[in-house]
Amino acid sequence: MKILGIESSCDETAAAVLEFDALGQCNILSNAIFTQMDTHALYGGVVPEIASRMHLEKIDAIIKQAIEMAQLNLSDIDKIAVTSGPGLLGGLIVGTTYAKALSMAKNIDIIGINHLEGHALMAHLTEGLNFPYTLLLASGGHCQFLKIYEKENIDVHSSKKENMSEIGFKELGGTQDDAIGECFDKVAKMLNLPYPGGREIEALAKKGDPFAYSFPIPLKDGSVQFSFSGLKSAVRRVIDDIAEEMDSKKMADICASFQETIAQLLIYKCKKALEITQHKRLVLSGGVAANKLLRSRLKTFCDDLNVTFYAPPVNLCTDNAVMIAYAGGLRCLRSNHKAETITIKPRWSLNEVNEIL
Ligand code: KG4
Ligand code: ZN
Repeated sequence: MKILGIESSCDETAAAVLEFDALGQCNILSNAIFTQMDTHALYGGVVPEIASRMHLEKIDAIIKQAIEMAQLNLSDIDKIAVTSGPGLLGGLIVGTTYAKALSMAKNIDIIGINHLEGHALMAHLTEGLNFPYTLLLASGGHCQFLKIYEKENIDVHSSKKENMSEIGFKELGGTQDDAIGECFDKVAKMLNLPYPGGREIEALAKKGDPFAYSFPIPLKDGSVQFSFSGLKSAVRRVIDDIAEEMDSKKMADICASFQETIAQLLIYKCKKALEITQHKRLVLSGGVAANKLLRSRLKTFCDDLNVTFYAPPVNLCTDNAVMIAYAGGLRCLRSNHKAETITIKPRWSLNEVNEIL
């Protein structure tokens, strides 16, 4: 089975082709991606209207590129998997409309994929990770814990392959305000650093003292929910207080102290999440997973608990179409996928996906 994945839910226009064998083993034949980051950087964040227009301009070329890189023709494609939510409405309309047109013109089955389902399954592909596992999805748009497991209610009349039960998803907790990457970006903006600010903060933090300033660890309430407004205000107050004497050393100290607070927060929240799931595998994914300090602190924390820590390659744990094609492929192999009408869902919890699978 050769499956074309299409992703356009935020600021990446992406297409990829994956080939599955009957046992669910898969090869990535191509992975084409166009990121709009440089354009949105001019505005300090993603501008939805600009994002939709850029998707429209790029989608045709990116899909052609993915098919060419895979050394295939459209007629070789057996299925199309397209992100149908959650995300920015304009981008979702562009991707799903293109996918539907292709499906009708070439008579190819189409599958609507929840973008989070793609992120959730990536470690299964890149790390060969067995189920179950707990995932912390931490990016500019996402901030949540997910439990990913195999369902046990195997239908004996089903035509799906043996030993491949359906995959279940549960959202354990999310954020009450910003996503974690968004918080990095907003703190960076307070310090007049360019967007996106996560990488800049990490680089400056290397030269700073992580204990120079003491910021509150937000929502230390035993829950697996996040909230960043209090932490952002605390950083703002420090910046305002020392505005007169701000210099590069103090900036580095603020970055290091902020990053240290985030590290302590993630360790605290991951501990709570693992207490709930009792899993022995923890995955950190999303753009924030590029942060070496956060990765190494979470690894040490997991080692102490005898939990294995995974962080997939950054280019595959940020938005891409490989994850969408992979989720589509697993859906076909494990869930008796039926032909469907694609409905766009800009807001769409993974818990709802769980119910329909
Ligand atoms: O997954 P991603 O590429 O895009 C979306 O969120 O759609 O994540 C981007 C986010 C940005 O907020 C960026 O500041 C953050 O990931 N990020 C980082 C680092 N690199 C990127 N945050 C902390 N440390 C980093 N090294
Ligand atoms: Zn994403």
